[in-house]
Formats: sequence, C-alpha cells, structure tokens
Amino acid sequence: MKTILELQCSARKTRSITRELSAFFLQEWSKRQPKTRIICRDLSNTPPPFVTEEWIATVFGVEEADYTQVQKELLAPSDELIGELATVDLILMVTPMYNYGMPAALKAWFDQVIRVNKTFSFDLARGNQPIEPILSGKTLVILSSRGEGDFGLGEVNESMNHLETHISSCRHFLGVESEPYLVHVDYQEFGDTRFRASKEQAFRDIEALVFQLTDPNGHNPTSGTGNAEHI
Ligand SMILES: Cc1cc2nc3c(=O)[nH]c(=O)nc-3n(C[C@H](O)[C@H](O)[C@H](O)COP(=O)(O)O)c2cc1C
Repeated sequence: MKTILELQCSARKTRSITRELSAFFLQEWSKRQPKTRIICRDLSNTPPPFVTEEWIATVFGVEEADYTQVQKELLAPSDELIGELATVDLILMVTPMYNYGMPAALKAWFDQVIRVNKTFSFDLARGNQPIEPILSGKTLVILSSRGEGDFGLGEVNESMNHLETHISSCRHFLGVESEPYLVHVDYQEFGDTRFRASKEQAFRDIEALVFQLTDPNGHNPTSGTGNAEHI
C-alpha cells in the first residue's frame, strides 16, 4: 500500500485554488488506488516553529543519546515531521506563490525536516560536496497557484520564480532523486480568460498525471494532455 503526504500551506481556507487542485488530485488518485493511505498536514493551520539558536546548537553539537529533556522537547516537532516524511512514498506539496517564493509555513517545514544525521549526513572528507541525503525513493508532486504568470522558460518573469526552483533544490533531502512533477495555475489575480484556461489545463494535467503515476505502464490514452511539467 502506498502512502501520500499532502502538505497544504495556503492561508486561505476558502476560495483557495491550491486546495481545490489538491482535492481533485486526491479524488482522482483514490478512484484508481483506493487503498492508498493519505496523511494530510495543514501547515497553515499549525505552522512548524522557526529554528532557533538552541535548535541549531543541539542538532549540530549534541549527541542524540545525551539530549536533555528540554532539548528533546525542542526537537519534538522536527522528530514528528521527519518521522512522518520517512514513511511516505509520494509528497504532494500544495503551495501558493507568496512574494515569488514559498509561504513561510512551508519554509518552516523544510527547516525542521532538513536535519543533520536525520535527513542528511555531513562529512568534510567528501571535499566540496560534504552533504549527502539519507532518505530516498520518493516522488514529489508540486501543485501551485500564482497571481501573475509568464514564469516559464524564456518568459518575462522566469527569473522571479523562486517557488518550484527552491523546492526542487531542496528535494534531495526529502528523499526525492528525480525531478518533481509540476502542475500550476497562473493569472489568478487577473481573473481573465488566461486564468480560466490555465485552471482548466491544470485539472486536465492532474488527471493525466494521476493516471501516469498510478499506471505501471505510465501512458494515458484517453484524457488530458499529459503535459504536467518536470522541472
Ligand atoms: C501574501 C501573498 C503574496 C503573494 N505573492 C505573489 C507573488 O509574488 N507572485 C504571484 O504571482 N502571486 C502572488 N500572490 C497571489 C497568489 O499566489 C495567488 O492568489 C494564489 O492563487 C494563492 O493560492 P490559493 O488560491 O491556494 O490561496 C500572493 C498572494 C498572497 C496572499
């Protein structure tokens, strides 16, 4: 049985496009693989704490066996989030673009789960590449929504997109070796025909992507364009 970790982080509980995309993804997935275990973590409802000086000093300076009760409590949120991540096959990262990057709640999640000796090892004997991921074998799907558009390759806002590119840079530490699958809605703030077309395309892309990810042969002959992007 597969396990999906759904990470939500839109501050909007109503009218959220990313939540709509995610609900559709999970509905389509459950039709095809109803026994999948789905863990839903709403980072907007319960944002992980920010890392602190004590947090850093503990993870980098103290052997786990020597942690005090206070240090154990300090690292409890990180332990819980890493424990959850370690069990899953697919990470469904559902995120708006805020200020050209990821919402703070999602960044706080990354800062808690990317942790030395838990999700990466650090060894200066490796030279200029001292960091190696510990987890492996997971798939990453990013569902995003953006108020503006033209963030694609060669487009006018390409250099402003620090959302999927940032997530992709960190993905190895989540145990994701291959490129993420990406579906996005653009032009939300304009509410015009471009927005409507982008949203309709996103639903078709999700349908095709679910088919691809749940079909061992990976080919959908009947629906969607199958053009969810890899980045
Ligand atoms: C705080 C905030 C910052 C935003 N910053 C950007 C931005 O930098 N670029 C952009 O294209 N859209 C931006 N938007 C628009 C959102 O990406 C867009 O409304 C998206 O649909 C939000 O996701 P949701 O519908 O799931 O809530 C921002 C929205 C908010 C609330």
